[in-house]
Amino acid sequence: MGNFQNKELPMGNVLCSMMGIDYPIILGGMLFAGRAKLVAAVSKAGGLGIIGAGAMSPDELRREIEDIREITQRPFGINVPVWSPRADSLVKVAIDESVKVVSLSAGDPFKYTSILKENGIIVIHVVPTVSHAIRARDAGVDAIVAEGSESGGFINPEEVTTIALVPQVVDAVDIPVIAAGGIADARGFVAALALGAVGIQMGTRFIATEECPVPYNYKKAIIIAKDTDTMVIRGKRASHRALKREVVFKVEGPEVENLLDDRGIDNPFEKWRDSNGQEMKWVLRSAGQSAGLVREVMKVEELILKIMEDAKKIISSLPGLLP
Ligand SMILES: Cc1cc2nc3c(=O)[nH]c(=O)nc-3n(C[C@H](O)[C@H](O)[C@H](O)COP(=O)(O)O)c2cc1C
Repeated sequence: MGNFQNKELPMGNVLCSMMGIDYPIILGGMLFAGRAKLVAAVSKAGGLGIIGAGAMSPDELRREIEDIREITQRPFGINVPVWSPRADSLVKVAIDESVKVVSLSAGDPFKYTSILKENGIIVIHVVPTVSHAIRARDAGVDAIVAEGSESGGFINPEEVTTIALVPQVVDAVDIPVIAAGGIADARGFVAALALGAVGIQMGTRFIATEECPVPYNYKKAIIIAKDTDTMVIRGKRASHRALKREVVFKVEGPEVENLLDDRGIDNPFEKWRDSNGQEMKWVLRSAGQSAGLVREVMKVEELILKIMEDAKKIISSLPGLLP
C-alpha cells in the first residue's frame, strides 16, 4: 500500500515536520479571500496559511507578506496559479522574500519548481488527477495536494472526487499527499488520513471564519447553503464551482461562459471590484460542496483546535466499529 505516512514515518506527522507547523491543516490559496489577516490567523493557530496571490500585483503581494510578518513569525506560503499572467513576478517575490512554502496550481509544475527549490523554498503542487500528480512528482515537488472536484473555485473538467482521488494519488507517488475538496470538519480530516493523506487543505470552511476578509453576505451564503447549493460552471478551458443562487441571480448564462473562457484566470474577479477598484463585489461566490457542512462563522484558532480535538475522539472510537 502506497501510504507515505505509514511507510516512512510511523511516528509524528511528516507534513508538520516538513513545514515546521503544529497541525497538518492548510489554508488553500484563495483569490481575494486568502489575504494577510486570514493567512496569519491560520499560521498563528499552528496550521499553514497560504496567500491567494493569483490576482495580486508584486507590490500588493509584498505588502501582504509584510502584514503577515507583523502578526506572526510562523511559516506561511504563497499560492501561484502557474497560468496567471503574473506568475513570473509572483515567484520572484516569493524568492526575494524567502517565504517558506510556495503552492503551485493550474499549470505545468516544471515551470517554477527547480528555481523555487534552488532557493530553499518548499514546493507543493495542487493536482486534480493521478497523471497530474505523477508529473508534479517528476518535476521534483516536495508534496502534492490532491484536490477532488467537490472543492470550491476552479476544478478540473475530469471531476474526480476526493475519496476516489486521494488513495490513487497516494499509490502513484512516493511523496507526501495532502487531501483537499469537501473537507470542513474532523470527520473529513480523519477520512483523509485513512485514505493515506498526511494532512488536509481547506478553502470553503475558511471563508466562514471571522478573519476572512470577504463581505458578511458571502459567509452567510455558505452558512445557509445545503449540500446541493453549489454548481459547476463549465467553460471551454476551465470549470468553476460556486454557489448556485449567486450565479443564477447575478451572472447569467453566456456571460459566465465569457468570464471563464475568454478573459483568463484573473478577470472574473476583476469584475468583483467596484469602480474605484477597492470594495469587492462577489459576483461569483466560489464555494465547494462542503458548504453544506458549515453552520457558523468561527474564529480560525477555534476551528483548527476543534478539528484536532474532535479528530482524536473519532480516531479513538473507530476500533469499536471493527467486527
Ligand atoms: C473562494 C475560493 C477561491 C479559490 N482560489 C484558488 C486559487 O486562487 N488558487 C488555487 O490553487 N485554489 C483556489 N481555490 C481552491 C482552494 O485553495 C482549496 O484547494 C479548495 O477550496 C479546497 O476545497 P474546499 O473548498 O472543499 O475546502 C479557491 C477556493 C475557493 C473556495
